[in-house]
Amino acid sequence: MTGPGFNTVRVDLADRNADRNADRNYDARIGAGLLPSLPVAATAALGRDIRAACVVIDTNARPHAALVTDALRAAGAQLAEIEIHATEKAKSLETLEQILTVMGKARLERADPVIAIGGGITGDLAGFAAATYRRGVPVIQCPTTLLSMVDASVGGKTGVNLEVAGTLQKNMVGAFHQPALVIADIDTLATLPDREFHAGLAECIKHGLIDDTTPNDSTPNDATDHTPHLAWIEHALDQILARNPDTLIQLITRSVAFKASVVRNDERETAKSGGGRALLNLGHTFAHAIETLHHLSPTSNPADAPLLHGEAVGLGLIAAATTAAHAGLAPQELPQHITHLLTRCNLPTRVAGLPDHQHILALMGADKKTTHGKLRLVLPCGQHRAMVVDNLDKAPILAGLESISLV
Ligand code: GLY
Repeated sequence: MTGPGFNTVRVDLADRNADRNADRNYDARIGAGLLPSLPVAATAALGRDIRAACVVIDTNARPHAALVTDALRAAGAQLAEIEIHATEKAKSLETLEQILTVMGKARLERADPVIAIGGGITGDLAGFAAATYRRGVPVIQCPTTLLSMVDASVGGKTGVNLEVAGTLQKNMVGAFHQPALVIADIDTLATLPDREFHAGLAECIKHGLIDDTTPNDSTPNDATDHTPHLAWIEHALDQILARNPDTLIQLITRSVAFKASVVRNDERETAKSGGGRALLNLGHTFAHAIETLHHLSPTSNPADAPLLHGEAVGLGLIAAATTAAHAGLAPQELPQHITHLLTRCNLPTRVAGLPDHQHILALMGADKKTTHGKLRLVLPCGQHRAMVVDNLDKAPILAGLESISLV
């Protein structure tokens, strides 16, 4: 659906209790110049004006946050603000406690929302604070990176990392807590550093590798465009890299519409067949293991370490495709195809300094999807298909790790 100057993707939560779900459905708005309109959009989404709110601000998003806080104060809202230095290390129970303490000091009540302004780490932290404060208050997500616009801000996964014996276990503690509203203002992408922007493209490519559902009725900006998502990205890539605003709106709308369709059918990742929401973890078991290795750099310069999440996801896609090809589950040319596309996106396709592969396998075993100690991987089987694979032999997985290792 298009509105005045923006696209809207409706995130319907279809299952279980119909009455309860009716309240939990929400819109993701995607367009330019949207942040100052947050108070009006929030009133429509929450069914009341915002009286008070906790605004969780990513340090990198400070200038954008002022557009929201100025508009909210002008509308009469009382704001408690907290700034987050968004690193994986700071995505912790300690930072969560700081946010909750700010909320408690401000005596926020159950109707008062948390508003997250920033990237995925900020959104996940703020969402988890909203899920737990007074057993749940609304959260409004205002993603300011491409990665958080297309993935993290939609779907209700919130949480923090857990540090166990010196190792970060990614997103190990959290809750499903759907936002009341998502506002993706693409103006914030104009100043996003190249590296962050390119990292976001890895999640878009991930969606393209999974999505075999296009055409669908939720690609609002271009209902007649039936091009599969991956092919569309390849075709539009020059415009995407040039950050053409209309192309970015289309890209984000397509990815969010795809993600919304997955979340609608398997909100809590419990599908017993067909993969369901777990498919969105494509490449992520590899990615989560290598992104916890803080010395890894996407370039030959150690100062560029650590890898960004999207960079690790891109490497994870190559490793997963190579694993699938070695296991006879994907065409032999798929890893090369993905590598070429990631190269066009200026993303790393190999990384120096990976430890012994047995060590990485052990890190992969700490993944949330591991069941009865058995590794569960999501692998691409073609350009628009992915599958969940249990109990794979080690040899294809080691080939996957080899494919991204720069010695
Ligand atoms: N980022 C994976 C998911 O939302 O399920």
